[in-house]
Amino acid sequence: MVDFPRAFVCGHPIKHSRSPLIHNHWLMQFGLEGSYERIDVRPENLSAFLSGLKEAGFVGGNMTLPHKEAVYEFVENTDDAANAIGAANTIWFENNKLMASNTDAYGFAANLDDQLPNWRQAKRAMVFGAGGASRAILHALNEAGYEHVDLINRTLPRAQALADVFGDHIHPTNWESAKHLIAQADLLINTTSLGMEGQPDFPQIFDHARADALASDIVYTPLETPFLKMAKQCGQQTSDGLGMLLHQAVPGFEKWFGVKPPVDETLRTLILDDINNKDAS
Ligand code: ATR
Repeated sequence: MVDFPRAFVCGHPIKHSRSPLIHNHWLMQFGLEGSYERIDVRPENLSAFLSGLKEAGFVGGNMTLPHKEAVYEFVENTDDAANAIGAANTIWFENNKLMASNTDAYGFAANLDDQLPNWRQAKRAMVFGAGGASRAILHALNEAGYEHVDLINRTLPRAQALADVFGDHIHPTNWESAKHLIAQADLLINTTSLGMEGQPDFPQIFDHARADALASDIVYTPLETPFLKMAKQCGQQTSDGLGMLLHQAVPGFEKWFGVKPPVDETLRTLILDDINNKDAS
């Protein structure tokens, strides 16, 4: 048995995860003894893996696709964010009990606190997309006290299902109506895959958007998405998706290794270089 804390990221497949790069950078930065490994676990082996964590000497880890919902169901002790989102991405032991959280909402909010600090003063948002990522954003907006959210989605029943969970201040809306409602939005957030490399572009719906609105994309390949480009052309302040990826890693590292790590330019450059190298190869 090793005598330093071992953590992991677990998914299937897992080889593309950038989490090891982030956590191993922080371990080196603080000179901590510890490890952070990639572990590929098939869905049918997930409960055996989770049941054996303690014995294998793990202090916790990150859970990624396709396990985020299953781990939430498996773990008895889940926090408010995981309960609201219905999925978990971070697990750890506390008093010998396995705990689970979802740090995506925290990551989104912490990144905006860094990049667009006025976002907490705004009251009205427009969110594009009603998938898993959208759930985390809606939780963050509720926590920040947003009073009105237009939730734009191609498949309206999916948006309605989220409004049923997150509150009747969430208004499911189609893309056509978004072109006009955008004039009233203080904060625009893209949670769809539109604009990601290899995916269709985000549609041009910015004609009536306000220059004083803020815009944030959760996509980070490319870093400047078509959505953010259009927002900038309107004069809006923007925040890219890389910040959320980095900030959502902070609470896990702190739980496993006992130090709250910084999200700084060195880390950002390290991950950006990795993204650019992969794109080039
Ligand atoms: P995630 O869990 O990462 O949020 P997801 O559950 O697959 O991923 O959700 C992807 C989101 O992008 C959905 O809101 C999806 O819209 P639908 O619910 O109508 O499928 C949206 N999306 C993906 N491709 C799209 C496209 N070509 N046009 C419009 N919306 C699209």
